[in-house]
Amino acid sequence: MDKILIHGGNQLKGEVKISGSKNSTLPILFASLLTDEPVTIKNVPSLADVDTTIGLLNFIGKKVVKKGSVVKVLPKEKYKHIAPYDLVRKMRASILIMGPLLARLKKVDVSLPGGCTIGARPIDIHLDAFKHLGANICISEGYVKTFARTGLKGTTIHFKFPSVGATENVLLSAVLAEGKTTIINAATEPEIEDLASILNKMGANITGAGTDKIAIDGVKKLKGVSHSVIPDRIEAATYMIAAAITKGHITIKNIIPEHLYSISKNLKSCGIDIKETKDAISIKYVNHIKPKSIETGVYPNFPTDVQAQWIALMCLAKGNSKITETIFENRFMHVPELQRFGANITMNGNEVLVKGVKKLSGAPVMVSDLRAGAALVLAGLAAYGKTTVSRVYHLDRGYDMLEKKLKKLGANIRRIKS
Ligand code: UD1
Repeated sequence: MDKILIHGGNQLKGEVKISGSKNSTLPILFASLLTDEPVTIKNVPSLADVDTTIGLLNFIGKKVVKKGSVVKVLPKEKYKHIAPYDLVRKMRASILIMGPLLARLKKVDVSLPGGCTIGARPIDIHLDAFKHLGANICISEGYVKTFARTGLKGTTIHFKFPSVGATENVLLSAVLAEGKTTIINAATEPEIEDLASILNKMGANITGAGTDKIAIDGVKKLKGVSHSVIPDRIEAATYMIAAAITKGHITIKNIIPEHLYSISKNLKSCGIDIKETKDAISIKYVNHIKPKSIETGVYPNFPTDVQAQWIALMCLAKGNSKITETIFENRFMHVPELQRFGANITMNGNEVLVKGVKKLSGAPVMVSDLRAGAALVLAGLAAYGKTTVSRVYHLDRGYDMLEKKLKKLGANIRRIKS
């Protein structure tokens, strides 16, 4: 397994270009299953999760060609209706195969995704929505087996929580259902708007995406299109924090600043200088990092996917802060690893208290999940001495050219191939 070696302490300076959004690309790739015509997707990041999705599409019956950041999805053969364990287990977003296949084939069997159990990381909101749309569902032999013999029928679905994935799965199925579907308490994340945007270009009739009430008028058929994915706001946020934590000054390009409002606002409260243009943000450390407590929430509140990186930053703030996680349980796996750098953090349920320290010192650390990995790299960049980050395959799921981009900004970082 590869490792990342960092000699910390360099101030990051210069410009970095943000790649296309992972969380937009995945549902958009699944949307290509809704048509037999070619779909071209641009601004696609090179990530393990994108490769996993392409592998799944190839298996189901598409021909997928990726050249640089452009992916073409072409028709190949009749779709299979089974998404097997070996292709699905690596990525929770594989559950998004359900919507399009149910809409096209009226049946789909999907292995329960990502090593999660229904109890620990549930998919009940997805399944409940499919039931409302007229599907029958049973779980047997590790598979969710779903069929809708007479096709999906539009209806009103009230989500108990605005799940991003469940909103996407309903969009990916109801676009071809008979009649009108309304989602109440839908997720409002920018990635939902991006998915609705490509689906509408394909001929769907979706209104209200980006608000908590989305209406979908089912159509009979969708056509092929070309679409460019929005920039990755979580990658951008990670580089914004990288500038602050290394006392640097960087310009982050190819972004939509509005999507980063909660990050910019909180960084400003920390005393970081921020300047925005139409598609870029410049981040400049001024003298010290003021502590700033945050609570994660659904968009446009502070994203749970930036919580780990924020804790890393607060480790070097001048004072105490509290970080509250409200979206996922048990998302503090990075805390014990950050303590290895000399951070002063106490965990209590879904809250952590961070007492800022004057300096961190490099350490060997292990990544437990994607964003935890980002936090450890950030701490390593700011820490004195050598940090070795192991299990970096988690980072490869979500950060396009991480070491290359950081090196260009002046970091002393390299990958040690296994
Ligand atoms: C997506 C993002 C992920 C981000 C998350 C929250 C992708 C590929 N992933 O994940 O990066 O952290 O949104 O912004 O876009 N839940 C249920 N039942 C369900 C579905 C979800 O209880 O059927 C719970 C989850 O356990 C979690 C919360 O709802 O506690 C949020 O999950 P959800 O919004 O569905 O996140 P994902 O779509 O999995």
